[in-house]
Amino acid sequence: MTSRTLRHAAPVALLAAAALSIFTLPADAAPDRGAHHADSRQRVRQLASPLVFGHRGASGYRPEHTLASYELAIRLGADYIEPDLVSTKDGVLVARHENEISGTTDVADHPEFADRRTTKSIDGVQVTGWFTEDFTLAELKTLRAKERLPQVRPGNTRYDGRFEIPTLTEVLRLVRTWEKKLHTTIGVAPETKHPTYFDSIGLSLEEPLVATLDRFGLDRRKSPVVIQSFEVSNLQELDHLTDVPLVQLTGASGGPFDLSAQGTTYAQITSAEGLRKVARYADWIGPDKIQVLPRDVAGATGRPSDLVRDAHRAGVRVVVYTVRDENQFLPTNFRTGTDPNAKGDVRGEVESLLDAGIDGLFCDYADSCVDARDGWVE
Ligand code: G3P
Ligand code: CA
Repeated sequence: MTSRTLRHAAPVALLAAAALSIFTLPADAAPDRGAHHADSRQRVRQLASPLVFGHRGASGYRPEHTLASYELAIRLGADYIEPDLVSTKDGVLVARHENEISGTTDVADHPEFADRRTTKSIDGVQVTGWFTEDFTLAELKTLRAKERLPQVRPGNTRYDGRFEIPTLTEVLRLVRTWEKKLHTTIGVAPETKHPTYFDSIGLSLEEPLVATLDRFGLDRRKSPVVIQSFEVSNLQELDHLTDVPLVQLTGASGGPFDLSAQGTTYAQITSAEGLRKVARYADWIGPDKIQVLPRDVAGATGRPSDLVRDAHRAGVRVVVYTVRDENQFLPTNFRTGTDPNAKGDVRGEVESLLDAGIDGLFCDYADSCVDARDGWVE
């Protein structure tokens, strides 16, 4: 049982959101931050705590890593939006979760690119498909995004074919535009994907990332930016390249690819001793939520692990991934009914994570996490 009490946020009037955006709000989404701030233009909102990170934008409602997805996350109240980054052939950073793009774009429907289909070893895994590093930005811009999980989120497929793959620059322009519209601060949490692999093909991610942030005045210690990586070496490199806070991502199993030869595991990294080492180069740890709230044999959460306590003792903040509303992604004690694609008690899960002392969380449905966070009182 939670030791905290809950309050309910006061209802916020929905104004004409269409005047602010070409994108519509989902019918079941919480009220629109844009509408709220249209009523209070002089207010400058401070970032809340714990922070809500719009995971791949508002990927519960829109095809992930599109400007439409990021914009919706902002309007739903996300404190930060999260572009995963890979490189094009001509060295431009674009927002995709993988460099292999058949799962989230219509590349397979483009006969002019049929001969680009190939098999590569990415982080020790054989992957077949089409890869961003084999396309110029101009070529990638002819593709359109599609929903990654059409069986789980069939409503999102109506947006298939509508949105381009955005560049990091376009994402930062979008953020700047919405900061002006809302008179607020919107954070950005770029994640470098497969940094060792991209180094190996001469398309290093770190330098263009820092240069792009610098162009937007976002390369400072207090910039509303955090840079994430599942690898260690590139975060240590970034610690010398930029003052921006860094997030060491970890998994519930395995270890960072760049340190696989020496057998380093995420379990070692998230030990009390490992966290003290993380604190030398990073400011946050980004564990799988299961590492904070382990599950029993029935898949239910119980007492938190020591991870948050140990991280805080080491001076490291904790942002967990990934909160998703659908039953299949929830611990069994927060599921509602038996349909794996139906929405469960995500608010209950978020409250448990907040009770465990986390400092932030990545959410596919930003509004669900904002709603739970803002209705939760320490
Ligand atoms: O970056 C936090 C979370 O996004 C990590 O998982 O695989 O969704 O990038 P992934
Ligand atoms: Ca990510």
